[in-house]
Amino acid sequence: MISTQHTAHSAQISGNGHGTNGHATNGHEPPHYGLLREKIAVLKQERNAVILAHNYQEGAIQDVADCVGDSLNLAKYARTTDADTIVFCGVHFMAETAAMLNPAKTVLIPDLGAGCALADMVIAEQVRQWKAAHPDGVVLCYINTSAAVKAECDYCCTSSNGVRVIESIPEDKEILFIPDYYLGSYLKAKTKRAIHLWKGYCPAHAVIIPEKIDALREQCPEAEFLMHPECGCLTKQMDLADQILSTEGMVTYVRSSPAKTFIIATENGILHRMRKDNPEKTFLPASEHASCHYMQRNTLDKLFWSLVRLQHRVTVDPAIAKRALIPIERMMALT
Ligand code: 13P
Ligand code: SF4
Repeated sequence: MISTQHTAHSAQISGNGHGTNGHATNGHEPPHYGLLREKIAVLKQERNAVILAHNYQEGAIQDVADCVGDSLNLAKYARTTDADTIVFCGVHFMAETAAMLNPAKTVLIPDLGAGCALADMVIAEQVRQWKAAHPDGVVLCYINTSAAVKAECDYCCTSSNGVRVIESIPEDKEILFIPDYYLGSYLKAKTKRAIHLWKGYCPAHAVIIPEKIDALREQCPEAEFLMHPECGCLTKQMDLADQILSTEGMVTYVRSSPAKTFIIATENGILHRMRKDNPEKTFLPASEHASCHYMQRNTLDKLFWSLVRLQHRVTVDPAIAKRALIPIERMMALT
């Protein structure tokens, strides 16, 4: 049981846990963050909990996490942890995937509103209709889909393993790819397979436009240009990117590259980790507006309350989970 001490102190920390986004401004973190970090460390022990944080989460959350990574690495971690509780600081489809991969655990998300605009661009009924129009096709879903959508699919992939998953699909099969048009275009170009593309997109990546990238590259010709495959400008800039990588791929790449300056085309939460890991290098966001409002709904305050109240639990209907795990497990077997 949690000690009453936490709830008493927590009143001083931040109201009822439904406060506004706690992002630090002007490089200064809110004054109560030090106290929050201490309390989170104690609660984690008491709850036998682990904190998983996606690379886009605010820096303060990344700094208290047991694992920071991309959607594939976080899914792998969630699958094998022996903690009783997983606090998933990411978006809902990621927490759902963790809950399906480790059904005996309590999976929490600090803010239930942390959804994904891209995942919401396709629903299960639309997948059923698309399949009916292509009876010989197989459906490959990006992990950025709800469990209900995954339950309609044959294969699943993330931005880091899409090519490998496609190579595992028999060559005579046409592929229906949902929901991200740009990741799908990239995979189609890379694999030269017959792939039909759903026209979904991520709004945070859509604001990254070629004009700004061109200007940055002109200003810093020595900079390496890294792009996430969800970028809307990818169709025009694909050949110009030095690397097209998942978020974890980018974090790993900048560590080992001899380059000193990088232009980063993805959600800007990732800059925290890059700068922390490589203080001697310079990271320029391809757009200052590339910010995921869903990811940012999770804050350090809400993470604290999540541990105090064991809220908000993410579960998946067992009948849906049984079917959704088929494409997920096919992917996990390859990686
Ligand atoms: P990654 O798997 O590359 O971290 O991407 C997840 C995501 O939601 C990107 O917008
Ligand atoms: Fe979804 Fe885009 Fe946010 Fe990633 S950045 S979680 S794809 S809305």
